[in-house]
Amino acid sequence: MAKKRVFSGIQPTGNIHIGNYLGAISRWVATQKEYENIFCIVDLHAITVPQDPTELKSKTRELLGLLLAAGIDPDMSTLFVQSHVKEHAELAWILNCFIPMGWMQRMTQFKEKSQKQKEQVSVGLFDYPALMASDILLYDTDLVPVGDDQKQHVELTRDVAQRFNSIYGPTFKIPEPLIPQVGARIMGLDDPTSKMSKSEDKPSHAVHLLDTPDEILNKIRRATTDSQKEVKFDESRPGINNLLVIYELFSHKSRQEIEDHFAGKGYAEVKNELAELVIEGLRPLQERYKELTEDPNEIDRLMEKGAEKVKPVAAAKVSEVKEKVGLARICQG
Ligand code: TYM
Repeated sequence: MAKKRVFSGIQPTGNIHIGNYLGAISRWVATQKEYENIFCIVDLHAITVPQDPTELKSKTRELLGLLLAAGIDPDMSTLFVQSHVKEHAELAWILNCFIPMGWMQRMTQFKEKSQKQKEQVSVGLFDYPALMASDILLYDTDLVPVGDDQKQHVELTRDVAQRFNSIYGPTFKIPEPLIPQVGARIMGLDDPTSKMSKSEDKPSHAVHLLDTPDEILNKIRRATTDSQKEVKFDESRPGINNLLVIYELFSHKSRQEIEDHFAGKGYAEVKNELAELVIEGLRPLQERYKELTEDPNEIDRLMEKGAEKVKPVAAAKVSEVKEKVGLARICQG
């Protein structure tokens, strides 16, 4: 039987943190053999908010290096940069014309992000989900492994695909979101009531994948917890709960084992042991990242190879869509 196709994306903005790693990247790596995989660095999504051009370019390369270092194997997974395949923007425009404004206005991520930006909000940020739908639908994707925050966008993708199919006949595959049971929403260390986020720049908010051991230790020691003592998984105590979830994912131990291990111990011990676990958990990735980035040309070669591989698939889908919608082709001869 043919393998199911997975597509997912990640923005090359800010610093990639353990929320991105535990909620998405590590899952992509874990199921790589099971599926046919396409992973995209979504730089067109990144420019929906202001970016420094030099930094955006370097973050795009850094992210490709990090994905490889985390274990994405270019022989099993195709990795490419969104702006290298023009069909993403082209299909997004067409999909725009099939998405009612009301659907977009319901997107909670836009509401949150636009509140932060106030009058600087771009039309691109509002339209972000149409571009994401285009990413997914171009490749007849079966499964979209993402964190909890992207679920609503995948649902909108399904809705627009269904709407288009109902007008023009079967064109797009209807994708399913794949959300992890644990770690779908890692919370900020400084504020465990809000999601760990790349756009948050408070120094103790997130552990980044390239943080030094000292940085990791300090951030985790400073993490906000409550004044209770008992070490238990308990969603009504978001601070300690978040630290224990991170512990669970890095240690691969069961919740019972973890609670037994910390019985009679305090939050300080949890923090110290967790920091050690995260430092050791990220060490191999950090070492591989150093080796991989010694030859920056290799990163560029991979980017090019990935884009070349997916271009024909994307082009075929866009040409099918254009034909159905009635966009005339120039007939030669
Ligand atoms: P982005 O770049 O914000 O995040 C990349 C992935 O990390 C997940 N994630 C988290 N998971 C758990 N806890 C957190 N605190 C946390 N923060 C982020 C995200 O859910 C995501 O899976 N719109 C997407 C990128 C995108 C995309 C796509 C994804 C563009 N096109 C097509 C899937 C399919 C985004 O901004 O991800």
